[in-house]
Amino acid sequence: MIHNGIIENYKELKQELLAKGIHFRSETDTEVVAHLVAEELKITPMPIDALKNVIKRLEGAFSLAFIVDSVPDQIFVAKQGSPLVIGLGDKETFFGSDITAFVNYTQKAVFLHDGEIAQIKAGEIRLWDKNDQEISPKITLVQWSPGSADKQGFRHYMLKEIHEQPRVVSATTQAFVNQDGLNLEALGLKSIDIKKVKTLHIVACGTAYYAGMAAKYFLEPLLGVSVNVELASEFRYRDPYLAPNGETMVMAISQSGETADTLASIKHAKEKGCQIFSICNVNYSSIHRESDGTLLMHAGPEIGVASTKAFTSQVLCAYLWALGASQILGRLNKDELNSIIQELKTLQLYLAQAPNAEEKIVELAGKLYQYPNFLFIGRGMSNVIALEGALKLKEISYIHAEGYAAGELKHGPIALVDKQIPIVAILPHDHYFEKTLSNVEEVCAREGQVYGIGDEKDQRLKDICVQVVPCPQVKNPVFQAILSTVGVQFLAYHVAVKRGTDVDQPRNLAKSVTVE
Ligand code: AGP
Repeated sequence: MIHNGIIENYKELKQELLAKGIHFRSETDTEVVAHLVAEELKITPMPIDALKNVIKRLEGAFSLAFIVDSVPDQIFVAKQGSPLVIGLGDKETFFGSDITAFVNYTQKAVFLHDGEIAQIKAGEIRLWDKNDQEISPKITLVQWSPGSADKQGFRHYMLKEIHEQPRVVSATTQAFVNQDGLNLEALGLKSIDIKKVKTLHIVACGTAYYAGMAAKYFLEPLLGVSVNVELASEFRYRDPYLAPNGETMVMAISQSGETADTLASIKHAKEKGCQIFSICNVNYSSIHRESDGTLLMHAGPEIGVASTKAFTSQVLCAYLWALGASQILGRLNKDELNSIIQELKTLQLYLAQAPNAEEKIVELAGKLYQYPNFLFIGRGMSNVIALEGALKLKEISYIHAEGYAAGELKHGPIALVDKQIPIVAILPHDHYFEKTLSNVEEVCAREGQVYGIGDEKDQRLKDICVQVVPCPQVKNPVFQAILSTVGVQFLAYHVAVKRGTDVDQPRNLAKSVTVE
């Protein structure tokens, strides 16, 4: 059997089995379920009925798959909370917690709902709903092309996905911008009532949370409402005050659309009468299905555990959504929108240049990969890119790294500064530049070794930094943040490669965290 999730009442069930003299080879909740099914099969020979009886006794979030030796050509699966999707091929059937598991073999998917159980044979399935009624499977055609989940010649999925970002920006532009301006329908703005919204809470985890932090910088001025960015694992338990009747919107940001804490947060907010909107990369994912409105990203399958193209796509999608909402609220005029759309069209070109810096970053990684600690600093949205850069390095190279608002250093973290800790400063030519530069000077005055991501032609940067990683400079701060991100993504990637870690499947991490 295969089990993804947590059986919360497994200890009581285990006591019952121990009392029957059952011997256990492990301490896992999974083995308890296996024994329960084996016991049930003694009194209910039909595997599907035995499974139904056992599932009714389990508490928690889980998806399960069984093979029973009496019918070895069949697989039985069940979903409760954790994601489960079946792929219907030609004379073959697949299942996984995510469509990326089989998108290279079939684009015909059946997304299971909570409480559903399926019997799988090669090329056919039977499905029962939570009331034990047999139902006909609803087949969804996945938009991702075969091969989109391939490495396409790149050494790692992460590297491929970093290089895919210009294509993702172009696909996103095509999806949400047309000759009249923004496609409000595609942005999901027609399925919610933005005019009612007085408060916006963004709930997310990890990198998606940082995309939310970046979005706050443009959502508040464009919508004229206060925006709270919340860690979903905290939001779901802190019982925040949520004004009902649609005055509060809770926006979930999630690549996979299956992150348990984010899903639970929007379920909680829904009960409180909030409007639920999501920015998500997987069609028909649980978070998409739980939302009143969804902006479906066009990043394509993201396989590398360390999120890269999904992050820049989330920031760009949130920005286009905010522009659309601002237009609906009469806070953005046509000329302002048109000039932003012109800038957007150049972003793809600048992004295509970003890999020019890769060679310099490989060389830099060769100098830095043995340091045990790193600091990343920036101001404004560059503060968020510093946090994201630190997370990327931590995730795949296992080096301890912290991201800080540059103005915060003198309130403590500057005590860490010496020759032994490389400092990566995100330094675009924006209205934070001078302030950030003086923070960098404070660090250098204490022997800090600063590596700037910014304009390599800027003499002041060259004078103060050990090395400047070139990054194209643009006027629009959102597009600039996306460009700066590529630099920290490449740095994390090449440091990890130098350290020989498993870049695509780092230790202790899963691509989609479907349990609490
Ligand atoms: C990012 O590199 C990590 N994989 C992780 O922090 C991730 O962003 C987080 O688990 C949220 O995932 P989601 O976007 O699928 O909800």
